[in-house]
Amino acid sequence: MSRLVVISNRLPLGDNPSGGLVVALQDSLRNSGGLWIGFSGETPSEPADSLEYHPGAEYQRASFDLTPADHEAYYLGYSNSVLWPLCHGRADLTDIDPDYGEGYRRVNARIAALVAPHIRPDDRIWVHDYQLFPLAAELRARGIGNPIGHFLHIPFPGPENCAVMPDPHELFEWLSQYDLLGFQTHRDLANFTESARQLAELIPLEGNRIRLCGRELRRDVFPIGIDTASFIEEARTAQDVDRMRSLTGAQMMIGVDRLDYSKGIPQRFRAFQLLLENHVEFHEKISFLQIAPPTREEVEAYQDIREETEHLAGRINGQFATVNWTPIRFIHRPLPRNVLAGLYRQARIGLVTPLADGMNLVAKEYVAAQDVSDPGVLILSRFAGAAETMQDALVVNPHDPHEMAEAMAQAMHMTANERRQRHSVLLRDVVEHDVSWWSARYLDALAGAS
Ligand code: ADP
Ligand code: F6P
Repeated sequence: MSRLVVISNRLPLGDNPSGGLVVALQDSLRNSGGLWIGFSGETPSEPADSLEYHPGAEYQRASFDLTPADHEAYYLGYSNSVLWPLCHGRADLTDIDPDYGEGYRRVNARIAALVAPHIRPDDRIWVHDYQLFPLAAELRARGIGNPIGHFLHIPFPGPENCAVMPDPHELFEWLSQYDLLGFQTHRDLANFTESARQLAELIPLEGNRIRLCGRELRRDVFPIGIDTASFIEEARTAQDVDRMRSLTGAQMMIGVDRLDYSKGIPQRFRAFQLLLENHVEFHEKISFLQIAPPTREEVEAYQDIREETEHLAGRINGQFATVNWTPIRFIHRPLPRNVLAGLYRQARIGLVTPLADGMNLVAKEYVAAQDVSDPGVLILSRFAGAAETMQDALVVNPHDPHEMAEAMAQAMHMTANERRQRHSVLLRDVVEHDVSWWSARYLDALAGAS
């Protein structure tokens, strides 16, 4: 079996990863072994001109450093102030600057130069996410003819958002150098096809083959999953769940997200406020735990969202709290996975209401963590990729606080029978389509594509 080389911006070198990409890849590399290359998180003024290896029992990791200027232009700038907002439908939050585009290209070229000497002739290369769109083109320019696949963890923008990019045609030229393009949902695949048709040259061929900017490749949908079996076990054996329940006295509603504007956290706080205004019967009966570690804090839009959510939580608590009850508890740090699993299991409601999201693994983790005999209710945004399959959740419009508040009330009143029925359908999907299924399907398709 040839070696798998995974390349992504984020590489897990510490504990408690938050972010779907790291969680999913960690789970799949544990199964297949291989080499995972990514950014060290270090920004010295003079980075080494080689990869640093970090041996591990299950797979190897190798990291590169970036200069502060490269990190700013490539990661904070082009990746997270241009591509991220456009992929999440927020052209209003872009910060377009020629230095960012130049830094993005420069860093991708540098990563390719660092990686190319380590590639063996029969390696399969799997590149992840929007930070590395140009990587295949840069590797090809350095003589790498190996199969290279790309998987996009976040939504692919439609033509109106692609058109905001400084050079949309370039994006499709970069993508044409892969052998397989993977998307989370049919919606993303359709957006890609339409954007490429309008802004570059895409000719559909037989099956999932296309000709893009003159090169033949394949594209398909590969909805990502979680390591369901181990998450179920993690939740089942979580400590202190009953103790926590008796401490709070109220039913818990939980939200777990990076503190990102795409996650719709202020919108769900407003919906909760409306629930408490319209349903006094839930006062002291429901308590909302939002766990949201800060992310990309140097970017202004992320500072704004932190301020907005903290302000809202304070206002809602000020309006409704009693000596015995704090309606919203807001935790700003990552938690160990077994603690998270225990909290999901305890929560009567899992609130997953992004305004836009590639898949959203939290929705799947919440379902996996439930006690099948007394499961909680998942409230899921119709704009999360997960909603393409998880229709037995209470599917809501995250922009509509009234609909969300009523879904919360419905979840609180739902009979155990209905909760079990909905949960068993959701769980079946999460068990069948787990992370191993996802990576095996992708890697099979990559083998067939090259
Ligand atoms: P994204 O990739 O946009 O962050 P996902 O929902 O797909 O969104 O993935 C988030 C992952 O990060 C999940 O596996 C979730 O459990 C994890 N995560 C999010 N917040 C925390 C936290 N506070 N502590 C630990 N893990 C977290
Ligand atoms: O899953 C989408 C994603 O953007 C990943 O690419 C990324 O690793 C994760 O979310 C967390 O974001 P960041 O790496 O910027 O902290």
